[in-house]
Amino acid sequence: MILTDTHTHLYYETDPEKLSDLIQRSLENKVYRLFLPNVDSESIPLVFGLSERYPDHCFPMLGLHPCDVKANYKEELDSISKEIAQRKVYAIGEIGIDLHWDKSTLSIQQEAFRTQIDWAKNSDLPIVIHCREAFDEIFEILNELKDDKLRGIFHCFSGTLEQAHKVIGLGFYLGIGGVLTYKNSGLDKVIQDVSLEHLVLETDSPYLTPVPFRGKPNESSYLVYIAQKLADIKQVSLEEIAEVTTRNSRLVFGV
Ligand code: NI
Repeated sequence: MILTDTHTHLYYETDPEKLSDLIQRSLENKVYRLFLPNVDSESIPLVFGLSERYPDHCFPMLGLHPCDVKANYKEELDSISKEIAQRKVYAIGEIGIDLHWDKSTLSIQQEAFRTQIDWAKNSDLPIVIHCREAFDEIFEILNELKDDKLRGIFHCFSGTLEQAHKVIGLGFYLGIGGVLTYKNSGLDKVIQDVSLEHLVLETDSPYLTPVPFRGKPNESSYLVYIAQKLADIKQVSLEEIAEVTTRNSRLVFGV
């Protein structure tokens, strides 16, 4: 069984020993493939440091997180695009729009999102979208820029069935994380009506820890609890969930 965590910030742990324990526990739980998004230029060395240490298990992705789109965003985009030109990355992300923390930056968030979608198309890479309280704003841009190259993952999807259908309609995958295990999230009911062919799994560690560890920092080894919850909802085996969601991750990332 091979599980794939399509979105994890495991590299935030900077103690080398604790970091190797985190990787070890992931491997023990069959979480063999970890996709690592940076958030800004400062986190780039952390992403590459971990990916170079575990090249068979860790895959880097680069982008400017919408919460880090600030006054200096043009310089940030510049530094990140230089890295993308020089190194192997598997996606542009995480990118998008977040109106939960700061609405005043909407127009520069839109601008940065558009720019980074262009990078993805030019490099034939998928995008990993961070969307918080900004579904319509994101869809306005996706509908405007969609073509046969635009593809990717809606990271940490927790929307309605109607929104899920819109995402799938554009050929994107839904990234399903710990929210699936939360009572009253309603995501279980939405996912009941969505085919496994459109889903990938993620932890978004150290955030969004699944039950039964909610309240503790999240880690990639906990992906198995999200996978098991999905197996229960779909009434299939854990092995089948691993097989389908890992296959989907290979289709989107090409590795
Ligand atoms: Ni993230």
